[in-house]
Amino acid sequence: ELYFTAWEADMRLVRANGSPVRPGDMEPGSMETVYPPVPGAIHMEDAATMLIRMHHDQAEVFQARPINQGNKENGGQARWNEYVAYSKICSHLGCPVSLYEQETGRILCPCHQSQFDIAKDAKPVFGPATRSLAALPITVDDAGYFIAKSDYREAVGPAFWDRERRPAD
Ligand code: FES
Repeated sequence: ELYFTAWEADMRLVRANGSPVRPGDMEPGSMETVYPPVPGAIHMEDAATMLIRMHHDQAEVFQARPINQGNKENGGQARWNEYVAYSKICSHLGCPVSLYEQETGRILCPCHQSQFDIAKDAKPVFGPATRSLAALPITVDDAGYFIAKSDYREAVGPAFWDRERRPAD
């Protein structure tokens, strides 16, 4: 495994105020910042996740990422219907990618202007970032709330973080 965050299977995606999110809470084109339901999660930069509901036309042309970035299992399988969840940590140098521009479907990083296209599964389409934002695999539980299917299955943040954080063999 490359890297672990506080996310685990079956954890609900909760807002900063602790409330869980249902699909019907979100309009097409909207974004919610969500965290795992553990104490202090809002201070864990690598747990912060952008839950986005695509517009129908974006979902229709959605191009899943290839299995890459150490991701052996869920290439393209992270989304749930029109909903996708990506790490807020920019894959360039690790700034928070705080802006989601719903008209263009792009996630913008303010540090060096990288842009990630949600219809391309958060692939970088402008700027210095070279790999997609990590995708959190999501689904919905029996009560109708979003949950994680697992932790991130690919590295969160810049590639050099993997090398620094990976335990020595
Ligand atoms: Fe996001 Fe550089 S850290 S573009």
